[in-house]
Amino acid sequence: MSELKQTRPKGTQDFVPPDSERRRQAEATFRHLAETYGYREIITPTFEHTAVFVKSSGETSDIVTKEMYSFKDRAERDLTLRPEGTPGVVRAVLENQARMPCRLYYVGPYFRYSRPQKGRYREFGQVGVEALGEASPLTDAEVIFLGDAFFRSLGIHDCTTQVNSIGCRECRPGHRDALRNYLLERKEQLCGDCRLRIDRNPLRVFDCKVEACRQAVEGAPTPRQHLCEACKRHFEQVLADLTQRSLPYEVNDRLVRGLDYYNRTTFEYISASLGAQDSLGGGGRYDYLVEEFGGPDTPAIGFALGLDRALLAAPPAAGPARRHLAFVVWLTESELGETEKLAAKLRADGIPAQVDYDARRVKAQFKSADAAQAACCIIIGPDELAKGVYSLKDLVSGEQHEVPFDAITAAVRKRFRD
Ligand code: HAM
Repeated sequence: MSELKQTRPKGTQDFVPPDSERRRQAEATFRHLAETYGYREIITPTFEHTAVFVKSSGETSDIVTKEMYSFKDRAERDLTLRPEGTPGVVRAVLENQARMPCRLYYVGPYFRYSRPQKGRYREFGQVGVEALGEASPLTDAEVIFLGDAFFRSLGIHDCTTQVNSIGCRECRPGHRDALRNYLLERKEQLCGDCRLRIDRNPLRVFDCKVEACRQAVEGAPTPRQHLCEACKRHFEQVLADLTQRSLPYEVNDRLVRGLDYYNRTTFEYISASLGAQDSLGGGGRYDYLVEEFGGPDTPAIGFALGLDRALLAAPPAAGPARRHLAFVVWLTESELGETEKLAAKLRADGIPAQVDYDARRVKAQFKSADAAQAACCIIIGPDELAKGVYSLKDLVSGEQHEVPFDAITAAVRKRFRD
């Protein structure tokens, strides 16, 4: 027997009630919110061909170089558990020839092999949106606003929104050259990884957590200093619309985001209460990605929000101590038939109902009702059946009264409302 005793893999989590319910509730809040902005759900596979991520998230990104769960299947195909949602969504939209413009949202598990710590897991939840085929800066502002609205609806109020623009195909090469020259002059100060980044993708140096590298990039040329006129105008309009929406933001010139597909607007939501893993979510424009996947020229923007971090930052749910559940209690075996019938009637009326068929004594049934956190018990005994009533016991106040058969649904509903 003992060989079966196992613990969960490092970096994964179990969600037992009520944590599982709190999580599902947060997901439901997101679904509802996203739908009010016109987004519809897309469900894609949990694993994709490895090339889907390598080509889009970027060959120089930490996600691709260090964090992917990649494996060969039994037919030697190279597959990867999805580390993020955007590449799979773009692949699916093209493969299924979705009509543009197209607003999609998703909710699900993602996988990254990184060192687990508070707020960072190897399997984690993300909720996200992707608006494909929309180029307007007003879409950028609306998307940023939607993410913030989600955090606020969870009761998170210490979330700040950081925004930046990293330019487009026109203006990025100018910045890249200036940054490369700047970094070459400081090569000795940089870590080994960053030295390689100078040639491969100097922008990634902005993401490096090594203190010496952080110091080295202070004063480095920023993407914003090199924006072309069109990118400048786009960013100004995004900021103006955020102001118009009364969404406070900070412009962060170092916010380049660790994925290669971004251009123009990038943004991140930061929480003061999370410690080192303080990014609640982030996103940006990726106007070239659809084309890179072989599709038509399609502007796009989206975000992903970390569900685990959001739930760490949110205040604990102040839900009712008791569940909306009625426990039907039987006194002797001759009432079992009536018990089953009553439970079926309650369920048909939309009231969750449960019976303990195992417990022989009433006391044991009440114990089960308590373990299930039921709000009330409905007791059926020979006296009740003879009188045409049930005894309804409130498990919070302990009060008990008789209810005629045909009034039981209304009485339980009233109990749930109180
Ligand atoms: P990302 O910044 O890599 O962006 O991830 C978004 C959020 O997922 C993070 O801010 C964080 O809250 C959460 N997250 C990431 N890794 C972990 C982890 N190991 N444990 C717990 N939470 C984590 C993306 O994934 C892009 N696909 C966002 C996007 C959508 N851009 C455009 N569209």
